[in-house]
Amino acid sequence: MMDMEKTNKLGFETVSLDDDASALVIIDQTRLPNEQKILRLTTQKEIWDAIYLLQVRGAPAIGVAAAYGIYLAAKEIDTTDYNAFAKAFDKAREYLNSSRPTAVNLSWALARMGKIVEAGQGTSVAEIKKRLMAEARAIQAEDIEMCRKIGEHGLSLLKPGMGLLTHCNAGQLATSRYGTATAPMYLGHERGYGFRIFCDETRPLLQGARLTAYELSAAGMDVTLLCDGMAASAMRNGWVDAVFTGADRVAANGDAANKIGTFPLAIAAKRFGIPFYICAPSSTVDLDTLTGKDIKIEQRPAEEVTTMWYKVRMAPDNIKVFNPAFDVTDADLITAIITEKGVHYPPFSESLKKA
Ligand code: MRU
Repeated sequence: MMDMEKTNKLGFETVSLDDDASALVIIDQTRLPNEQKILRLTTQKEIWDAIYLLQVRGAPAIGVAAAYGIYLAAKEIDTTDYNAFAKAFDKAREYLNSSRPTAVNLSWALARMGKIVEAGQGTSVAEIKKRLMAEARAIQAEDIEMCRKIGEHGLSLLKPGMGLLTHCNAGQLATSRYGTATAPMYLGHERGYGFRIFCDETRPLLQGARLTAYELSAAGMDVTLLCDGMAASAMRNGWVDAVFTGADRVAANGDAANKIGTFPLAIAAKRFGIPFYICAPSSTVDLDTLTGKDIKIEQRPAEEVTTMWYKVRMAPDNIKVFNPAFDVTDADLITAIITEKGVHYPPFSESLKKA
């Protein structure tokens, strides 16, 4: 088993339920790396805002936060009548589900919690609430285990001393532990592989610079930060042996939505013959979504591009802005998709279904 005591130097959990199960506890990721601010969220509005504002972010972490969030909503529903409870629960579920559209882990976790309520018909509401808490905890425990296995499968493809490039943050801060794209890096680091890691800064919200560079360097890895547009030059220089990214939703044919900027990275990797791997737990694979065209891409406010990280506005007033949070990498650009079940190669419509 990977020893996160050695690799996790962050000293906080990305997401958890507090000791008396009355609040969702997260590290506010919008303040990292400069400030470690822990938030205790109790109301549905606070949890919705935290997901929308990316205080908690990354597909698996959003799923875990939603599971705890809907448990907290259920706990507050003051009725012993099953039908009234189920109705109020569904309303709360719809509300949380509207916070971000692209990462399927959000609706996946909420649907899984919904099944507990459906299966509970005939039992007491108090018992259903207990089961919901257990299910949310199980979702988190499974996430840790899935990421650990992704790390093992990913590492089996790598050799010591390799240069690995990653985009956005698919790390511990995007999951409960280990990360997805970073899991092989953590594991290899612990086993003395001496990887050279390249992190795209990831415009416009800088998850690569603020979060991935932060967590991997805190773990003691050799990390180099790049602006997104520099990745192809790093590849041309021969520094990159493989690209590892996460995903927010993988369609049945293998098309994968991930943070904006992933798609051009895959094109560049193809140009230089560099393997491009998507790492994602099976909870991110959505066989009901047939191709990337069916994935809803979240559009974010213009201020994230023009203003947010600057002391003064860095664009003309009233300029038009295109700010999609994600793009879709076509399946034919992906060398393999790594889940907890193994390394899946094209044709993905067959290998994912089989897995
Ligand atoms: O907008 P974000 O920061 O939530 O986007 C996150 C990503 O795109 C991650 O790569 C993805 O969720 C996978 S996290 C293991």
